[in-house]
Amino acid sequence: MKILFYDTKNYDRESFDAALEAFPEITVEYTKSDLDPRTAALAEGFDAVCAFVSSDVGTQTLEILHAKKVRLVLMRCAGFNNVDLETAKKYDIPVKRVPGYSPEAVAEHAMALALASNRRLYKAYNKVRENDFSLSGLMGFNFYQKTAGIIGTGKIGAAMCRICHGFGMKVLAYDVYENESLKSFVEYVPLERLLSESDLISLHCPLMDSTYHLVNIDTIKKMKDGVILVNTSRGALVKTDDLIEGIRMHKFAGVGLDVYEEETNNVFEDRSDEILEHSTTARLLSFPNVMITSHQGFFTREALEAIAVTTLQNAMDFLAGKESPNDVK
Ligand code: NAI
Repeated sequence: MKILFYDTKNYDRESFDAALEAFPEITVEYTKSDLDPRTAALAEGFDAVCAFVSSDVGTQTLEILHAKKVRLVLMRCAGFNNVDLETAKKYDIPVKRVPGYSPEAVAEHAMALALASNRRLYKAYNKVRENDFSLSGLMGFNFYQKTAGIIGTGKIGAAMCRICHGFGMKVLAYDVYENESLKSFVEYVPLERLLSESDLISLHCPLMDSTYHLVNIDTIKKMKDGVILVNTSRGALVKTDDLIEGIRMHKFAGVGLDVYEEETNNVFEDRSDEILEHSTTARLLSFPNVMITSHQGFFTREALEAIAVTTLQNAMDFLAGKESPNDVK
């Protein structure tokens, strides 16, 4: 099977080339171009395309892929909102994805953001580099014996619960479905109680109508003063203007964001100029207790390996005509 790999970054190539050793039936060619109607024709002569969250796998692209006799779309990510599933079905082009690759990668990054903002590590790093060894402005608080509030206890939230438990924290959780396997050390509580009792609040629910702007001025007012808020899930879970108001009210000891409302679909690109043009993200960056990273939660060696192996296994399942939970329907 021949796969054309779109939107290739060096790290993709490394992880896929390493994984390919175990899949002798598959060959992959890489292109830096992302998949969209302008680039779909490049897939002529290939059996499958491998695309990403930023690709445009819409109607037009699929029509071209069909005309070029491409038989399979391999999404190397969990999300598939950029795929026109109806058109894919019409042309009998199956779509497969990688639903979960490394929950710990994201959960560990969430804890890194919490610790870095609590102990002002970014400030400490800069101070020491400038030969300022004073401790002013660096005081944090112990996580040990404090309360963590985890919103959403699916794969990543559950990993975050385990990490917080390991820190000796009391772990409260809120989810519409309770995860039985966590109940020996996690207490499920109503959202209001989680907000009012937690010293660290970390968001791990998906973005849906019911979770859009879950963190807004009303929910912020219910939080404890001096709370740390971490969002590694989706930017629009937090209403940024209200977050800024909350920061101005001195509600937060720290805020750690790996995702932000203005983030475009074009994640993982070099988009620093774009972000600076965006007013609310730039405003957030101006606060000394806010730490922002660039949607890197997933970005570990293990996660990239898992993405590569699962994507190639999805291709093998297609060849074998096997149904799998990774089929997008
Ligand atoms: P998952 O599907 O395993 O878990 C999501 C949990 O949220 C489920 O338990 C679900 O019941 C719960 N939930 C749904 N509606 C809710 C509500 N209204 N209130 C509270 N909880 C609710 O998803 P997973 O894999 O744990 O991912 C969570 C999120 O992390 C994803 O939606 C994605 O946005 C984000 N993510 C971020 C990455 C990064 O690099 N920063 C990488 C991968 C995912």
